[in-house]
Amino acid sequence: MSRRKKMYEGKAKVIYEGPEPGTLIAHFKDDATAFNNEKHDVLEGKGVLNNRISEYLMQQLGDIGVPTHFIKRLNMREQLIREVEIIPLEIVCRNIAAGSICKRLGIKEGERLSRPIVEYFYKDDDLGDPLVAEEHIAAFNWAGPQELEDMVSMTLRVNDFLSGLFAAVNIRLVDFKLEFGRRYEGEMVRTILADEISPDSCRLWDITSGKKLDKDRFRQNMGNVTDAYAEVARRLGVMKDQPRLKVITNGDDE
Ligand code: TMP
Ligand code: ASP
Repeated sequence: MSRRKKMYEGKAKVIYEGPEPGTLIAHFKDDATAFNNEKHDVLEGKGVLNNRISEYLMQQLGDIGVPTHFIKRLNMREQLIREVEIIPLEIVCRNIAAGSICKRLGIKEGERLSRPIVEYFYKDDDLGDPLVAEEHIAAFNWAGPQELEDMVSMTLRVNDFLSGLFAAVNIRLVDFKLEFGRRYEGEMVRTILADEISPDSCRLWDITSGKKLDKDRFRQNMGNVTDAYAEVARRLGVMKDQPRLKVITNGDDE
């Protein structure tokens, strides 16, 4: 496995060449970073959990007709995905104020927003992924007008669907980040959902207690990060075949 060609290494995943043209393999690492790499740690088992949670959520979204890059899970840490050209934007959707919007606008964490807010961040680590407006996206041609429209409508659809899915297991979807890619199909270019959807890229609060079940536990040094991710997986009904996470955190094979 290790002799495969590495195409790209990010903070939480490694992307390898896939078995067929147009495919890639995403390998979920245990590394966690925050504040643009200032804070780094290895959280044993996180990659396994995110692989499973993202698989489940992407599959559910695929089932309602949202096009995604997910093809199938290969093993505990890896999934086969469609190769796309990543659009250099992070599309964030917020239902409740938390994180950067609170700092930026002086809003109290936990305040319910009167409507979902979609924000765009330009993907550039050196710049710290700055917030940008539609004007910047158009002027610098990071995405075309149709692509942007497709990304926003898919994001709102994902928000409605995942809000319901999480509410059913007593979890509030506070906010999340999506990434999209271009898929070239002959003469056609399609915008499809890419990257991952996991507690690394969402804020998830227990509805009853308000307990944080996401990466804010790491960002804010709250501890029990992977326990919280495992709780999300358990409530979603994934990892049912592997109740004891602690013994299955190394190796790529099941
Ligand atoms: P923010 O409040 O820090 O802007 O984050 C909004 C959402 O985006 C939150 O669910 C966490 C997620 N996110 C990422 O997935 N990657 C990132 O690099 C950042 C900053 C946020
Ligand atoms: N993923 C980003 C980083 O590494 C930030 C974050 O999620 O808070 O730095």
